[in-house]
Parts: sequence; structure tokens; C-alpha cells
Amino acid sequence: MVQNIEESQSIIEKPMKIGGLEIAGRVFKTATAETKATEDGFVTDELLEFYEPIVDAGTPLIMSGNLYTSATGKSSYKMTGVDNKDKIPGLKRLADLVHAGKAKIFGQINHCGRQIVPEAMGLDSAVSASNVTEKLMGTKPRALRHDEIKEITESFASAAEYCQAADFDGLQLHGGHGYLINQFLTPYTNRRTDEYGGNFKNRMRFLLESYHGIRERVGPDFPLIIKLNGDDKLFARNGLGISQMLEIARILQEEGMDGIEITVGHYESGFPMIRGKFDTYFHSFLNEGFGHQVKPFRRYGLELFKYPISKVLNRLRSYQEGFNLKYAVEFKKNLSIPVICVGGFQTKPKIESAIQEGLCDAVSVGRAMISDPYLYKNLIEDKPGPDCDFCNGCIARWGSMPVECYNEDIKRQKDIMLAHQN
Ligand SMILES: Cc1cc2nc3c(=O)[nH]c(=O)nc-3n(C[C@H](O)[C@H](O)[C@H](O)COP(=O)(O)O)c2cc1C
Repeated sequence: MVQNIEESQSIIEKPMKIGGLEIAGRVFKTATAETKATEDGFVTDELLEFYEPIVDAGTPLIMSGNLYTSATGKSSYKMTGVDNKDKIPGLKRLADLVHAGKAKIFGQINHCGRQIVPEAMGLDSAVSASNVTEKLMGTKPRALRHDEIKEITESFASAAEYCQAADFDGLQLHGGHGYLINQFLTPYTNRRTDEYGGNFKNRMRFLLESYHGIRERVGPDFPLIIKLNGDDKLFARNGLGISQMLEIARILQEEGMDGIEITVGHYESGFPMIRGKFDTYFHSFLNEGFGHQVKPFRRYGLELFKYPISKVLNRLRSYQEGFNLKYAVEFKKNLSIPVICVGGFQTKPKIESAIQEGLCDAVSVGRAMISDPYLYKNLIEDKPGPDCDFCNGCIARWGSMPVECYNEDIKRQKDIMLAHQN
């Protein structure tokens, strides 16, 4: 009988390990910045409510939305922070909620670098590896001084310690999506000539110092993973491709990194991290989302060109389930640590085949868990849920409005489902 149950189990329920930590299944919640903290970054009841059904669904591992570790690393309104000890009790409430549902939680720690509008965050300027202007928002950062680099690596280490003190089960360092670690890794954004730039070894230094600083504080056994691009997608701009990303991952594995989540792109590469529909994306981004922070003349320019840009993105970035698998499989071939793939996952056959065929060890899900927080349970029980249509309304409004499904029909289905679960 026991054997029959095991045989009938889907591979998505098969336990796996990240470092020494056992995870009960293979479909994770990826990081989606919630825009639900207080203005100074403290956990709120509203933020806990967002996670409650995801936990209730038995989702085995949850990555928090990216947590800022210092004031210069914060990108948006109501972003959650882990920048000082006072944040620990609120974060512990989140960890306790997750553990009550027997799931695990990793804190995603991040510094946004140049991908911010500094005035909107009350800063004089953004900081980065070098002073290369970010083309979407028009932010020209200033290059970090050595003492500031040390302060940021130190803030990562303290943030890791605070997450551990808050009973998080592990950490994820954000090394992708064009944020600060990625800005140091990529030659296009890193034009330094000191020991933090100029060649591959030097461009790795900021990441390795951050990693070692964290390890020293949390110890060798605390699970630590990284989110990394399979490709920067910075066409004709000296971005990193798969071979260099594999080299970075191999070094991190040697240094003791416990796992890797594969994503793609910078903001400036036209948001390849979210394939789907872009028809209303720019309008919502500029009027209801993070984009309203952008300076007026640039906003008007983007408004003016939003239709042709949307048409191009609809073609270039059309929806595809598992759109980063082509990168993930390369990491899988070259690494022995677990490889998690994010990007468009929603259906059981696709998720099962990705894992079964050895393209990745687990998948992580963003938008399809915003539309259906019970996705994990629904997949296991073969029940239909409110399917995401990848309209990108959630991410268009991120950083300004709470993370939620903004497609009225799907949201209605979601509300009905949630009412029945209660
Ligand atoms: C509303 C929203 C917020 C996001 N915030 C984060 C974040 O905080 N950290 C991160 O690494 N990625 C973030 N992402 C990107 C997702 O983690 C993921 O890489 C991307 O959405 C592709 O996965 P999906 O197709 O399952 O949505 C966000 C995505 C959405 C939709």
C-alpha cells in the first residue's frame, strides 16, 4: 500500500535537499517584491496575509520578496527591509507563519544599485560599480568608493545574521536582474580599473566578498543560494552570456554555495525576466507602478512610444512555459548543487517533465502563484485553479501598489477559491 502511494506520487512531491536542509517538494514560490511593508520596511499583517494561502497550500519553499539591506539599496515604496536589528521581530512573524504550515522560507537579500530613481527614495544619487546610466529610468549612478563597498558587503552579512535570528531557514543572494551584484559582474555596467573591475576575477570580487562575509556570520551549515542570470541579454552592450555565468556558478559551488536559481536579464534588456503580454504593461507601469517615479520628460517619452514598444515586446517576449530551461539545463550539466529554474511555470506536465528530464531539480513560480496561491496543492490534487494569463499587471504595478492579480476575471476566480478554502 505504502509503495502504491509512493508510486502514484508526482515528482513534484519528491523531497530534495538544499545544503543540509530537507525540502518537502519541488515547486517553490520565487521572490516577488510584495509592496506591503510599512514605509520604513517593517513586516505588516497585510504582508503576512499574502503568504498565508501559499503556506496553507503546502508550498515547500518560499523565497521572500527582495529585502533591502541598506538605505542606498532600497528601490521602492513599501519594500521590506532587513537593514537593522529592529526588523527581526517582524521577519520572525513571517518565518513563524511559514513554519506553522511546515514550509521553509529563505530571505532574498538585495541591493538594487543603479536600478532605482534616487530622488523617489530620498537619495542624492544611486550607486553602482561604475557611473553607467540605466536606460529605462534614466538614472546615472555614481561609482562606489572602497569604503562604501565594504559598508554594503557588511550590510549583506548583517542582513544574513538578522534573517537567521528571525528563524529563516536559509538565504538567497540576488545576483541577477541587473541589481548591484549583477552590475559588478557585468562588464557593461562595471568599467572600474581597480581591484573590483577590469577582468573576470576582479568583477567577481564584490560577489565573493559578499558571500564570504555572509558565510562568516551564518556559518557553513546555513543554506545559502543565489539567483543568477543564465544570460544578461544585453545585446551589443558587453553583457554576460551563458559560458561566463557557468564559470561564476562553478566558482560559487567550489566556495560552498548550496544552490542556484536561474533567471535572465537586466531591466535595461527589456524585462526578459517576465515573458507574456505587454499591451497594458507600460501604461500601468508609468501611471500606477514604479514608473511613476521616473522624471516627467522621460515618462512622457515612454508614454509616447508605449504602443510600438509593447508591440515589439509582445513579439520578442511572448509567453512560453519554462522560458529559462534552456539556461537551467546548462547549469544542471555543469554543477552538482541543486538548480532551480524560474520562468513561466504553471502546469503539471511541464513542471514534471522539466524535473524528470533532468533540466532542473526544482522550479520556482512567481506570477502563477500570485493568481493562484494554492497552485502547489492544486497541481498535486489535479484541480484547476485561477490560471495566470501573464498579462504582467502585477509586475507593472510593483513598487507602488500591493502585489496582487490585477486581471479582474482571474482575481474574481481567485477570491472565490480563497473563500472556499477558508
Ligand atoms: C510582482 C513581481 C515582483 C517581483 N519581485 C522580485 C523580487 O523581489 N526578486 C526577484 O528576484 N524577482 C522578482 N520578480 C521576478 C520573479 O521572481 C520571476 O523571476 C519572474 O516573475 C519570472 O517568473 P514567473 O514567470 O513565474 O512569474 C518579481 C516578479 C513579479 C511578477
